[in-house]
Amino acid sequence: MPETVLVTGGAGFIGSHTCVELLDHGYEVVVVDNHVNSSPEALDRIAKIAGRPLAAAHRVDVRDRRAMSEVFASHPVDAVIHFAAHKAVGESVARPVEYYDTNVGGTCALLSVMHEYQVDRLVFSSSCSVYGDARTVPLTERSPVAPTNPYARTKLMCERILEDVCARLPRMKVLALRYFNPVGAHPSGLLGEDPRGVPGNLMPYVAQVAVGRRERLSVFGDDYPTPDGTGVRDYIHVVDVAEGHRVALEHLDDRAGMRVFNLGTGTGTSVLELVGAFAEVSGRPVPHRVVDRRPGDVAALVADASAVAEAWDWTTTRDLTAMCRDAWRFQELNPDGYSRRPRHVGGPT
Ligand code: NAD
Ligand code: WQD
Repeated sequence: MPETVLVTGGAGFIGSHTCVELLDHGYEVVVVDNHVNSSPEALDRIAKIAGRPLAAAHRVDVRDRRAMSEVFASHPVDAVIHFAAHKAVGESVARPVEYYDTNVGGTCALLSVMHEYQVDRLVFSSSCSVYGDARTVPLTERSPVAPTNPYARTKLMCERILEDVCARLPRMKVLALRYFNPVGAHPSGLLGEDPRGVPGNLMPYVAQVAVGRRERLSVFGDDYPTPDGTGVRDYIHVVDVAEGHRVALEHLDDRAGMRVFNLGTGTGTSVLELVGAFAEVSGRPVPHRVVDRRPGDVAALVADASAVAEAWDWTTTRDLTAMCRDAWRFQELNPDGYSRRPRHVGGPT
């Protein structure tokens, strides 16, 4: 019998790509999402790309224990991937209770329902933001953690809760993956990042400038101690992130307890390098001007990605050009995100 994986937040940016990856590898996939930050249309597109349907999709809030219990009662869940969370750093400062409630409360609710149904295999979405203002890069999983905002604290708190649960329940197997900067889109152009309002993150903002939806990019500071003075990040293609989750599932049973891994490429890219790569790939200018640093930003965050490579014999394969090319294809085909059908659906190139 194929394994059934429950994916919370499965209609979101990373969740939707992961659902495709799981369907492509023979898993049965059950999605739980309240669509607070996603469109149900993403679910149709997942099925279209994979050429087969999800086992089920439930419009449910992960904090709703009774509804979650019904979901577990109706499917033979073998493992859970928990993406559902709020993720905007600035918003987390403005609405901390909402962030703690959804991210920490949602994880606690999920854990108690998993316990009720004796499901003990979990992959958890953590974040490089737990490292905070890193003094030295690249960051290994043993680098000190020092989150600097409520969002990042919710992620670290969840990691701590998971450690405590694993200490109490010896059968539990948990992998917490600290993603660096996931970007890009599915090569079909059907799935991608669809931020509501003005994008806070670099890649979607650049894509909207290139397509003419925004006038120009503000580059937040060029006086960082980096080669060209702009911020350096470890961008990772979302399909590599999705693949990483499928590989994580295959390694959940390696060992009981809680393990933490970085999910990055190990390569740093500056804001100006990304802008240049995007302009080249899209053939469109990306007007930009340098403004003040964004409060709370750090100079460089780059993963040491060797632990995952050693543990799973797996590495990322998609480079910055692929990230920009796929983000651009999604932007071109879906200029208004998921609110309209794509103009044309081509195959991967
Ligand atoms: P996303 O907002 O696109 O996806 C999150 C999904 O969860 C959305 O579909 C949303 O509707 C759903 N959701 C939110 N609260 C919910 C709730 N209470 N009940 C049910 N569903 C709920 O975000 P993403 O970029 O796909 O991120 C997925 C996970 O990865 C999050 O946990 C995020 O914190 C983490 N992460 C993201 C990044 C990044 O840069 N995108 C980096 C590191 C970690
Ligand atoms: C990247 C670089 C900016 C926008 C965020 C979260 C983090 C994690 C990943 C979830 C920085 C610069 C950006 C713009 C710019 N998410 N920039 N102009 O801040 O590294 O990380 O996403 O876990 O928690 O904080 O990503 O894409 O916002 O910024 O110059 O309009 O681009 O200063 O150097 P960040 P980002």
